[in-house]
Amino acid sequence: MSIKEQVNHRRTFAIISHPDAGKTTMTEKLLLFGNIIREAGTVKGKKTGKYATSDWMEIEKKRGISVTSSVMSFPYENYYVNILDTPGHEDFSEDTYRTLTAVDSVVMIIDSVKGVEPQTIKLFKVCRMRGIPIFTFINKLDREGKEPLELLSEIEDVLGIESYPMNWPVGMGKRFLGIIDRFNDQFVRYMGDEKEEVVPLGELNKSENPLFASVFDELELLDEAGNEFSAERVMKGELTPVFFGSALANFGVHTFFDTFIRFASPPKPRKTDDGMVSPDTPIFTGYIFKIQANMNPAHRDRIAFLRICSGKFQRGMSVQLTRTGKTINLNQTQQFLASSRETVEEAYAGDIIGIYDPNMYQIGDTLTEGKEQIHYRELPQFPPEMFRKVRVKNVMKSKQFKKGIEQLVQEGAIQLFKQDSNDDVILGAVGQLQFEVFEYRMRAEYNVEIEFTSIGERIPRWLVEQPKDRRLFDSRSLLVKDRYGRYAVLFENDFTYRYFSDKNKDVELIDLFEANDYKSL
Ligand code: G4P
Repeated sequence: MSIKEQVNHRRTFAIISHPDAGKTTMTEKLLLFGNIIREAGTVKGKKTGKYATSDWMEIEKKRGISVTSSVMSFPYENYYVNILDTPGHEDFSEDTYRTLTAVDSVVMIIDSVKGVEPQTIKLFKVCRMRGIPIFTFINKLDREGKEPLELLSEIEDVLGIESYPMNWPVGMGKRFLGIIDRFNDQFVRYMGDEKEEVVPLGELNKSENPLFASVFDELELLDEAGNEFSAERVMKGELTPVFFGSALANFGVHTFFDTFIRFASPPKPRKTDDGMVSPDTPIFTGYIFKIQANMNPAHRDRIAFLRICSGKFQRGMSVQLTRTGKTINLNQTQQFLASSRETVEEAYAGDIIGIYDPNMYQIGDTLTEGKEQIHYRELPQFPPEMFRKVRVKNVMKSKQFKKGIEQLVQEGAIQLFKQDSNDDVILGAVGQLQFEVFEYRMRAEYNVEIEFTSIGERIPRWLVEQPKDRRLFDSRSLLVKDRYGRYAVLFENDFTYRYFSDKNKDVELIDLFEANDYKSL
């Protein structure tokens, strides 16, 4: 197959949802279709002690939440599928945002009982910003939930996207009979125990149950007043195809996945400093969107996750790290299947590979074949909102403390600052839970006990020039340096920030979120 054909058969996507909507259950079903696992691990082992295949870090087992994003790759029919799992917990949104830059489509799971939930709204916004196709799966139809029309209007009103129901449920909860598959003109009967029966609509006896009458009324309404299906608008992220089903009962999941694979986006051209690069360009390029230390505690290693953006990867190939100009031979490369990893010999644009990181890479780094000077502009920086001072409890452990901080900070979820006046170490995060995970990992992976002192929520602003007069800063406007040596000020609140700016008009301050090019300053 040519590179172009390989690329067109790639489907790289993430599943997003509010915690507990059924992401893990859905992921497992898809892995079963891909013959990757034979038996679904009972989700998170709350009841049986088994763990879901995609929840593979120790901490996830302990806390019962997905902390890291795992990548799962497998062939499915004529396609090659890469699923990126994303942590649903809002404190990990930074990690999730970055993961979303590496996918071409998104599957959004909504709990039919709860409807659109806050965390879904946040994640959804990031997808909309990037204009990527979004497919919606409304889950848990085996439970008594909201009315399907109500769910549709929630999706349209709250999320601001048009929807097209690909199928329509007949009843729900105990009265759940199955779904009318509008797209294939058939009724799929729900029979429990992962069994279903397909009846062409022409052969369906509509008088078999009174529920059909109201369902066909609703369908008529949708045909007349609803949106039209348009593959092109799906591709642009303007219209979301909506599926109803039950991940747990494995009902409607297969049809959903087959349709998804057909209409989801293959890898698209991506933005660099010098314009767009098409995925079928023969030159291998890619960027690192995630770094993870100690994926396997027994080996104490670091893995950088690379999204291939163009060309073909072959193990052993020579590439350039464009940030430093250094040439690297990519020998230790892996593809992932939750906790197991396999050496990858070749891969194409759209695939995600893991590369061994001897402390050389940074999040956002571009790798290219040959001497091409390309920089991908994919990763916005998400400014931290909460800050804590951190110190080691036992000074004898200072060396491990330093090493742990250095390595965990490079993963990107937590940011490192040093107070200018006394070199105190300050960590910044988007959510509270990241501090807890940090503390846990310092203990589990580096054998270091740490102590936090909160300095509360802060508004970070970066200084364009070196500070001339240090007397301008105090504990309410704390002068710090980030890990690249750039000066920043942590303001106590919006008021202090505005007061400071008014009084010191000659001190230019930058909001990193708005100024993504700050790195080049
Ligand atoms: P998440 O990854 O999005 O957090 O959700 P997860 O798959 O872990 O599912 C959350 C709970 O919802 C699980 O229950 C799971 O079995 C259940 N679930 C998933 N899909 C369906 C479905 O189609 N129908 C029904 N009825 N339930 C579903 P749990 O962890 O065992 O415990 P509990 O939350 O029921 O107490």
